[in-house]
Amino acid sequence: MYVCLCQGVTDGQIRDAILEGCCSYRDVRQTLGVASQCGKCACLAKEVVRNTLSELQISKPSLAYPAEFSVA
Ligand code: FES
Repeated sequence: MYVCLCQGVTDGQIRDAILEGCCSYRDVRQTLGVASQCGKCACLAKEVVRNTLSELQISKPSLAYPAEFSVA
């Protein structure tokens, strides 16, 4: 599913970016460019990031988030 039409970014690309090391919405935005033009995708992109990080925490509880991660 496309999350950002301006940049052509899908939810799968956001998940892959997180699996490859992005640990926040800010990281994903800098890496993929989501919400860097019209900004209409920001809420959905944040939701995908939040859900993906939550899924990772549930599936791999032994992995600690980096110190800079915050849920808010
Ligand atoms: S839809 Fe993402 S910046 Fe426009």
